[in-house]
Amino acid sequence: MTEYVAITGGAGYIGGIVANSFLGSGSNVLILDNLSEGNIQVVNALQKRYGKDRVLYRNVDITDYNALREACRVPINGFVDFAAKISVGESQQKCLEYFQTNNIGFLNLLLVAGDRPIVKSLTAAIYGTPRDGFLPLKETYHADIRAQGKGFKKSQLMQGAANLEEMLGWYKEHISGQHKWLGLTPEQIIDSNVPTSVYGLTKLWDYFMLQNREFYTGGKFIGLPYFNAAGALNSPELRLGEAHRIETHLIPTIFEAAMGGIHAVPVFGEKRKLRDYVDVKDLAEAHVLCFDSLLGNGESKVFNLGTGRQYDTKDIMIAAAEIIGIPIPYMIVPDRAGDSRALAADTTAIQQALGWSATIPLRQMLTDAFKWQSNPPPEFQALMKNRFPTVPISLSQAKGKIRYIRQ
Ligand SMILES: NC(=O)c1ccc[n+]([C@@H]2O[C@H](COP(=O)([O-])OP(=O)(O)OC[C@H]3O[C@@H](n4cnc5c(N)ncnc54)[C@H](O)[C@@H]3O)[C@@H](O)[C@H]2O)c1
Repeated sequence: MTEYVAITGGAGYIGGIVANSFLGSGSNVLILDNLSEGNIQVVNALQKRYGKDRVLYRNVDITDYNALREACRVPINGFVDFAAKISVGESQQKCLEYFQTNNIGFLNLLLVAGDRPIVKSLTAAIYGTPRDGFLPLKETYHADIRAQGKGFKKSQLMQGAANLEEMLGWYKEHISGQHKWLGLTPEQIIDSNVPTSVYGLTKLWDYFMLQNREFYTGGKFIGLPYFNAAGALNSPELRLGEAHRIETHLIPTIFEAAMGGIHAVPVFGEKRKLRDYVDVKDLAEAHVLCFDSLLGNGESKVFNLGTGRQYDTKDIMIAAAEIIGIPIPYMIVPDRAGDSRALAADTTAIQQALGWSATIPLRQMLTDAFKWQSNPPPEFQALMKNRFPTVPISLSQAKGKIRYIRQ
């Protein structure tokens, strides 16, 4: 019997490149995506490369339980879940939409999955603004700060549409009220104080839902908080890369500014902000290893995916200018609330358990990303032209304030 790895969000940036790694390692995939952010071109490219019998696609919204259950009526040996809303800023304004997709959608996936294994995209945003002395971050961060009496006594959420109390009320009404096994433990409620954004909170709750599912059903999972994903796949057989409808990520923004598509890169505040950038192809390999480990009866785990190296926005702009030989215009804009000064992953756990570590250096990641963005395959060109509909800095804002990073 032919079995499939079900990949939600598989028409998106990371999901498409992960699907390619599963296909390359011999698995078949069932892509579940409503194309709200993903692109049918990703599915078409995978089907062209591997054949329609190995790449099934269903246009389905994961928030619709019946439709999801119908779409999953093929033999599935496990799930890899990417489908989510992913913008920190937007999540503060539209928290109900984030709960709906990231939590109700995920609840539906749990109900359809039963006790089959799940590999789940998490995010560094579950760690909020880490306490001093805890970098690089271990997966045990929440428990560690609690155990050392350094836990947060009140919610760190930046100002938004609702407060944590109201949000916990939403969780009770819509998730644990009907599914008692998903009720949050007292520790999980305390740890809900950690994220600074609604986006981070929705992902932390997904992690708690996985923990609670395992407790009650034995269903195994691996949760993967990734730090900043970047880069592209430019193999001779297949090219895939970042093509978000509205792009907020730093590296595509830098290249867009260099190519004149936007006036400047917005740099938030004068202080350095250190981030850990991991190549999407390294992420893809990690997903296959994690999935195989669960199929082989490996334990449930959470593994950070990053490099442990930290770069400031200017470091990335300097490296990018050197590689492409074009000056990068940038402008300092007001700092954003809730932005951590530094985030970096401690990846010892996945190194020791599965032998994974990131292999692709920053310069290669930037080279791949630029190749994709400056010369996308013909079928992606229209998409790539329209991905900065909201110019981050207007001409009048920019006047006289733009600086340049040169080679
Ligand atoms: N890109 C990053 O740097 C980064 C960092 C940390 C975590 N993540 C996580 O990785 C995952 C993938 O991120 P990405 O950058 O590839 O984003 P993406 O927007 O390209 O991919 C998400 C996919 O999910 C689909 N989707 C959204 N809502 C859906 C719904 N209701 N039903 C069905 N499909 C739906 C979208 O159409 C899209 O194809 C997300 O879960 C995100 O939280 C991304």
